[in-house]
Amino acid sequence: MNTIYVDSRVNDERRRQLLYAGQLFTYSARASSSAFTEFARQMIEEAFGSLDPVTAQYEMSVEKFVEIFAPLKPKFIHHPESKRLIKEMLADLGCDLEITYLDVPRLRAVTSDGYLTSGVGYAHHPHRDTWYSAPQCQINWWLPIYEIESESSMAFHPRYWTEPVKNGSREFNYYEWNSSGRASAAQHIKSDTRKQPKPEQPMELDPQIRVIDGPGGIVAFSAAQMHSTVPNTSGRTRFSIDFRTVNIEDVKSGKGAPNIDSECTGTSLRDFMRGSDLTRMPEEVVAPYDSAAVADGVLVYQP
Ligand SMILES: [Fe+2]
Repeated sequence: MNTIYVDSRVNDERRRQLLYAGQLFTYSARASSSAFTEFARQMIEEAFGSLDPVTAQYEMSVEKFVEIFAPLKPKFIHHPESKRLIKEMLADLGCDLEITYLDVPRLRAVTSDGYLTSGVGYAHHPHRDTWYSAPQCQINWWLPIYEIESESSMAFHPRYWTEPVKNGSREFNYYEWNSSGRASAAQHIKSDTRKQPKPEQPMELDPQIRVIDGPGGIVAFSAAQMHSTVPNTSGRTRFSIDFRTVNIEDVKSGKGAPNIDSECTGTSLRDFMRGSDLTRMPEEVVAPYDSAAVADGVLVYQP
């Protein structure tokens, strides 16, 4: 990892290759991405009423904050407008919606000063999404909804692109996680008891890279990229959107970032829907990933 491509004009094919090689892409706010974050902003502001959402945490108990914010997450995920806007943005960024599959967009709040650090406001420890059963060809997209600062951003830890980290992914099974974990996130206000695949060795998080975009700006990165939530000390709650895509041709051919330390089982591929018509990925394409196992750091497919 050595390059951040800013407002690059390379096509999607080339962009995926570069992302799989550990590079980062960022795009300034454009009409399609601003429409998406603006939609989220309106939804957030309606929910918080007369309060400014980025400082509302100072006006209410953490329980009240969760009561307001938790219902917004599923509302945003399932809103038809979210689906329309995400498709428009991807098409605008050069993705072919016939072969690009996407999962639902998520809305996140990272409050300041440790006010809410679990459940719906979970602050992510350093991780790769591939520890959570994401395919190696998954690309993550991240957009801030309000102005952010370095102190309220997300961080990449580039040395771990090539350096394996001992981690708990061997105990992570995607199907178990779905049946017990995510559904109960709103109940985790003070602490989070969900079993997450964490680093099991000391890590050196510096030097780290934080990309600061304005509202509607976009950061794209490989799911194998080591990243974390910066502990927010900005005095303002950070609201952001993120979602994931996979290109089905890469799923079929096994292209993607190298797997250097992930040993989880199960796959999140069944969550993805084709951009053009939101149909699921054909079962025969997903099946080889179902029982994927890692031997000596290499992903092997078991029929
Ligand atoms: Fe992540």
